[in-house]
Amino acid sequence: MTKGWTKSDWRAKPRVQMPDYPDTAALGAVEAQLAKYPPLVFAGEARKLKKHLALAGEGKAFLLQGGDCAESFAEFSADNIRDTFRVMLQMAVVLTYGAKVPVIKVGRMAGQFAKPRSAPTEMIGGVEYPSYRGDIINGFEATTEARIPDPQRMLQAYTQAAASLNLLRAFSTGGFADIHRVHAWTLGFAEHDKAERYREISNRISDALDFMNAAGINSDTAHSLSQVEFYTSHEALLLEYEEALARVDSITGQNVAGSGHMIWIGDRTRQVDGAHVEFCRGVLNPIGLKCGPTTTVDDLKQLMAKLNPANEAGRLTLIARFGAGKVGDNLPRLIKAVQEEGANVVWSCDPMHGNTIKAASGYKTRPFEAVLREVREFFAIHKAEGTIPGGVHFEMTGQDVTECTGGLRAVSDENLADRYHTACDPRLNASQSLELAFLVAEELQSQREEARRVAL
Ligand code: PEP
Ligand code: CO
Repeated sequence: MTKGWTKSDWRAKPRVQMPDYPDTAALGAVEAQLAKYPPLVFAGEARKLKKHLALAGEGKAFLLQGGDCAESFAEFSADNIRDTFRVMLQMAVVLTYGAKVPVIKVGRMAGQFAKPRSAPTEMIGGVEYPSYRGDIINGFEATTEARIPDPQRMLQAYTQAAASLNLLRAFSTGGFADIHRVHAWTLGFAEHDKAERYREISNRISDALDFMNAAGINSDTAHSLSQVEFYTSHEALLLEYEEALARVDSITGQNVAGSGHMIWIGDRTRQVDGAHVEFCRGVLNPIGLKCGPTTTVDDLKQLMAKLNPANEAGRLTLIARFGAGKVGDNLPRLIKAVQEEGANVVWSCDPMHGNTIKAASGYKTRPFEAVLREVREFFAIHKAEGTIPGGVHFEMTGQDVTECTGGLRAVSDENLADRYHTACDPRLNASQSLELAFLVAEELQSQREEARRVAL
């Protein structure tokens, strides 16, 4: 795709947020081993996802991207994968109803292991340790030993990603994802006494399914009701791992990241001339780019030119993560930059990373209300600018954790200690995730109604 590019060119560029492995021989051996393993995804799938994303850029599809902040070796289980997958499907049904367009489902799963950190060391119990950088790099335990970067961890991450993806593929087509089952779970949620507001949409979805059934459209006659397409994504942070899994597509001769369908560049690693941009620019996969308050118009223009020189639709998703109250100051200037360049992008909203606060109890948390407020601001700005809100990006889990405060089951600051399991940032739990999907569906619905009124 990119002439003259090779998968190791990033090595000559300045790198940030990457570990210094003390044992370079062990690192080399792991890289050589991974390079021989099969890729986790096939180039044709990445290309297909790009086509779907091109539609999201035009408002003809909507992107739902979500999953753990950091996948961990300790929390790896079939139940955890199933539960996150299930709640994403529930959200997708609700969003499809609101948006009346297909919802593209992309998990932060099967590869989301490496984490950028705000400082190289952290204080735990009054002692300073090297920062935890995700299970693919070092251990979470607070010991100096565990915090040494260990390349063997890449092999374990690969194995876990392969097994996770295998299960996700089985769930996607094996009957688990049947829309009637998925919706039955949502009906259970809507029975909650505080969920009255959501009962109307879920009853309307029931009606639509009943109607289709009566018209002969059911899981037996339409396989789109019994199967889903589900894609994987992660931040392409650990470039030794990414390079080792990069492959040349035998059909087109293009380079593809074999580690996941979509990869993204984080807010801390988007230097125009840096290693991460250098790697991502050369692979054909859809690329996400986090845009934060410090992203300048000039940065964005240069990044778009570098990451999507052919202006291919679906190639680039801009993931806005400004924080509630800051969208109005930042999104319009970046939308203008996109318009000035005539660039094809998908605008997605990550209402998580700009809304992290420290609770009085010391836990990092995110208030549900702030998350929702940022999503609403994102929609309002796009409406005012006449541009398209193409998707949402959440840190979430199917487990009943207590990491973000608020929601209809009202997790309080005092509850945070009850089930705080994240290896990194606080995630929405299953109920908060689904509630948010209902609220986003309401936004999408009112946007559609408004567009219809204007058209009349
Ligand atoms: C993340 O998505 O987990 C992350 C670290 O985000 P950002 O780069 O936007 O801070
Ligand atoms: Co995070």
